Amino acid sequence: MKSIRIGVIGAGRFGVNHLHAFRQMESISAIKLAAISEIDPLKRKNLEMEFNIPVYEDYNEMIRKEDLIAVSLATQDHLHREIAVNALKNGLHLFVEKPLDVTSEGALEIMNLAEKNNLLLQVDFHKRYDPYHIEIKELIEQNKFGSFLYGYCHMEDKIIVPRDWFKDWVSHSSPVWFLGCHFIDLLSWLMGSRAVSVYAKGQKIKLKELGIDTFDAIQSMVTFENDAVISFDNSWILPEQFSSIVNQGFRLIGTEGIVEADSENRGALSCFTSGNGVRNHNSGFIYTIKEASGREKYVGYGIKSIQHFAENLCYMHNGGSLESLDGTYPSGLDGYEVAKVNEAIHHSIDSGKVVAL
Ligand SMILES: NC(=O)c1ccc[n+]([C@@H]2O[C@H](COP(=O)([O-])OP(=O)(O)OC[C@H]3O[C@@H](n4cnc5c(N)ncnc54)[C@H](O)[C@@H]3O)[C@@H](O)[C@H]2O)c1
Repeated sequence: MKSIRIGVIGAGRFGVNHLHAFRQMESISAIKLAAISEIDPLKRKNLEMEFNIPVYEDYNEMIRKEDLIAVSLATQDHLHREIAVNALKNGLHLFVEKPLDVTSEGALEIMNLAEKNNLLLQVDFHKRYDPYHIEIKELIEQNKFGSFLYGYCHMEDKIIVPRDWFKDWVSHSSPVWFLGCHFIDLLSWLMGSRAVSVYAKGQKIKLKELGIDTFDAIQSMVTFENDAVISFDNSWILPEQFSSIVNQGFRLIGTEGIVEADSENRGALSCFTSGNGVRNHNSGFIYTIKEASGREKYVGYGIKSIQHFAENLCYMHNGGSLESLDGTYPSGLDGYEVAKVNEAIHHSIDSGKVVAL
C-alpha cells in the first residue's frame, strides 16, 4: 500500500513533538514521516542524526522533491501564513500549530484555500483532546448544566517563555495569540457557541522593562452567541519559581450546574533538594513511557492532537471523504473564529471599546 508521506516544517521546541508523533505511527499505519524542513543549520544537523530522513533548509524544495501528501507546520506564530498558503497551493493537506495565523485576514485566506482545493486543514487546539475536557464536553452534551451564564479561564506562562525561549519573536505575538487561543477555542467548542463581542484591557510593564515589546497580560471579557459571558486572563510573566511552566484552568456556571477544571494542578507534585521548589506535573499533556522493548514512546493529549491529523489522513487514504469528517476535528473555520476573537481583543485594548465580531 502506498505510504502517506508527511513533511514537518519548523522543528523547534514544539515541532519535534510533530516528528515524534508521526514517527510513532509508522509501525502501525501507512503514515511515513518523510522529511523535515528547518532553517536553523545546527538543528538541521541534529535532526538528520536523530530522525535519519532528509532535512531541507527550503521547505519549497522539500515539497518539490518529496512526493508528500501532507505537511505539518510548527514555525513561529507570525510565520504560518505564507507557508500554509504555499502548501495548500501545492495540493497538500495541512496541520497547523495554533494560532492558525496572527491576523483574521491570514486565517481566512488559509481557510478559503483549503476549502477551494478540498484539502484537510486541521489546527492544533490540543485542549479538546484532554480527557478531563472530553468528559466535561460529554456532560454538557447531556445538558447537565442548563443554560450557561458566565465563566472564567486562565492560562499563564512562566516568564522564561517570552524572556528566554522566544525572545526573538514574542514581539510578533502576544499572550492571547500564544496562549489565549487555546481556551477561546476550548470554551467555544465545549458550549457549542461562537464569540460575538469582546471587551479587553492589557498591560505592558515587566517585559517592556526587559526591552521586549509585547503585553505582559491581557484580560478579555467575551460574550458568546448563547449569551454566556466568559472572562479570559492570559499572561506570560509568572515567576520562574512557579510550580509548572503553565498555569491553566477554567470554570463555567450554568442555570443547573457548575464545572471547574484545574488543568495545571492534577494532584501530582514533586520537590527535591537540588530543584527549584515544588513542581506540579500535568502528566497528561506530553510525556514518555517505556515500551516493553525499552523504546521511549511519546504519549498524552498533546501527542493525540497531532496524531489525530494523521488518523484523518489514514481515514481519507482508505476511502473516507473529507466531508464526513466535518465537526470531528479543530478545523480551519475554528482557527479563523479564534483569530477574529484575538484580533477583536487587540482592537478593544487599543480603542477602549467593546468590539463586535
Ligand atoms: N500546541 C502547543 O501546546 C504549543 C506549544 C508551544 C508552541 N506552540 C506553537 O508552535 C509553533 C512553534 O513554536 P515553537 O515553540 O516550536 O517555536 P520555536 O521558535 O522553538 O520553533 C520554530 C522553528 O521554526 C523554524 N522555522 C522558521 N521559519 C522556517 C521556515 N521558513 N522553514 C523551516 N523552518 C522554519 C525555526 O528555525 C524554529 O526552529 C508556534 O506557533 C507556537 O505557538 C504550540
